[in-house]
Amino acid sequence: RRFLQTLGTVTIVTVLASGGAFWYFSAIERNPGVQQEFDPEKKTLVILGSGWGATSLLKTLDTEDFNVILISPRNYFLFTPLLPSVAVGTITPRSIIQPTRYVARHKKRKVAVIEAEATDVDPVKKTVTFSDNSEVQGQVWSTTIPYDYLVYAVGAETQTFNIPGVAEHACFMKELHDAERTRFMDCVESAAFPGQSQEEIERLLHMVVVGGGPTGIELSGELHDFLMDDLKQWYPELAESVRITLVEALPTVLPSFSKQLIDYTESTFKEAKIDILTKTMVKEIKDRSVVVKMPDGSTKEIPVGLVVWAGGNKMRKLTVDLMAKMPETQTNRRGLTVDDHLRLKGADSIFALGDCTATSYAPTAQVASQEGSYLARIFNQIAKKDALQNQLQVLQAQAGPEQAAEVDALQKQVTKLDKLRPFHYSHQGSLAYIGSDKAIADLPFFGTGNLATGGVATYLFWRSAYLSTLFSFRNRALVATDWMKVKFFGR
Ligand code: FAD
Ligand code: NAI
Repeated sequence: RRFLQTLGTVTIVTVLASGGAFWYFSAIERNPGVQQEFDPEKKTLVILGSGWGATSLLKTLDTEDFNVILISPRNYFLFTPLLPSVAVGTITPRSIIQPTRYVARHKKRKVAVIEAEATDVDPVKKTVTFSDNSEVQGQVWSTTIPYDYLVYAVGAETQTFNIPGVAEHACFMKELHDAERTRFMDCVESAAFPGQSQEEIERLLHMVVVGGGPTGIELSGELHDFLMDDLKQWYPELAESVRITLVEALPTVLPSFSKQLIDYTESTFKEAKIDILTKTMVKEIKDRSVVVKMPDGSTKEIPVGLVVWAGGNKMRKLTVDLMAKMPETQTNRRGLTVDDHLRLKGADSIFALGDCTATSYAPTAQVASQEGSYLARIFNQIAKKDALQNQLQVLQAQAGPEQAAEVDALQKQVTKLDKLRPFHYSHQGSLAYIGSDKAIADLPFFGTGNLATGGVATYLFWRSAYLSTLFSFRNRALVATDWMKVKFFGR
């Protein structure tokens, strides 16, 4: 009887909890309330981009203060840290994206989300031109809108240094479609085609990753896991022929991590039979080979099946064009120059953040997202100041000497709000997955110290850290399910 009572209680609690969750998600999460319409009295804030910087801004911003228009060629936010996992099928693409309209729909005032690419920013006329390049249109539609404030968060694109063949023959690891389109499985299936020579099998199964930064390291680790966990069983006759080589021009991989973690990564890769070629520069990528300059200065042509290029960041054309319009203030070749409040030097109404800027911080998601939420607070302050200033103007126009004290008090408040707190970055540590169920972490320790750790425990920490930083409950549930699915069914 006690068992049946317990079972009954558990059933009732489960039914109530699921009903509550269902009600919450269907009624509130998926169908939030009616939003306020655009207010012609409010200023227009245009946001370019839907990545880490822009999304963090949108999430924190009080949209009651502005008419917000967000323009981005991508109508979703992409959780880049787990992109290499998508490349090998550990995680499904939808698990790490969140529609930008989801964030927009949960704001108090409506936010216009436009899927389009900004093609021109005019800092003098204060306008943005953008176009819809979608194939369904059959032609390019373009339009120009004015802004009062512009937040420029278009990120960066992959640096190729104009090395011949990179654009034509290599895969990248920057956008979702890059991860979905790696030709890894094509190479494996072609190698399995009957009658291939051993030489051709070895070429097809040689995976070269260029760039020993965190992207290249994480992708090599993920490729290795796929090979060990799945391919070995599915293609036993090919497994021995698969080779992964990481090519890095500098003397060491992961230069931004501590020395002991670099050593740990190198030794983990050695155990995993991932070759690291340091001081080796890729000079050309051909259809079936990579030409490298070896440390001794000689040139070598290495046969390859797949090349993934992770050579770092460079400015987008839009950013280069914007800088060209401000030749006196915008002279940094790494990106846009901003002041302590992320205001673009030379254009007071434009704020820039994230990978498109050249600051003392590394181009990371952590920086972009902190900058985004900082800017949201700055905009709330700007909105308050603008409102008080309007009030002040009205009062000054009507007031006689008896309201002088009131005018004075208002003036003081406006002056106080004029002072913006500068952006301050708080580093939460660097994490990277290195394959074989191991991760490395450089964590700040008691203010000034640094805790460098690597291994399986760090990998569990890496997983929980990323699970908690994922955008929404939906993303967390999907990623956790993907990880479980891989454990049960493989990739
Ligand atoms: P992005 O996030 O790149 O966003 C730029 C946005 O602008 C995009 O929505 C894009 O569609 C849009 N856009 C592009 N062109 C235009 C245009 N013409 N008009 C309008 N919009 C435009 N950082 C970490 O801190 N930790 C990590 O673990 C980590 N892992 C990473 C893994 C990978 C594979 C990669 C590629 C990067 C990783 N990063 C990581 C770096 C991090 O992703 C970037 O620093 C971060 O995305 C920068 O944010 P952002 O907002 O400046 O740019
Ligand atoms: P990166 O700039 O960190 O590394 C690119 C590497 O490619 C460099 O080391 C460079 O020397 C090498 N390279 C360039 N051209 C080459 C050539 N021709 N031949 C051989 N090697 C060549 O770029 P990455 O890894 O894409 O990272 C970009 C930013 O994103 C960084 O700030 C990084 O910190 C951040 N990021 C952080 C991650 C994390 O914290 N886990 C993961 C991925 C990216």
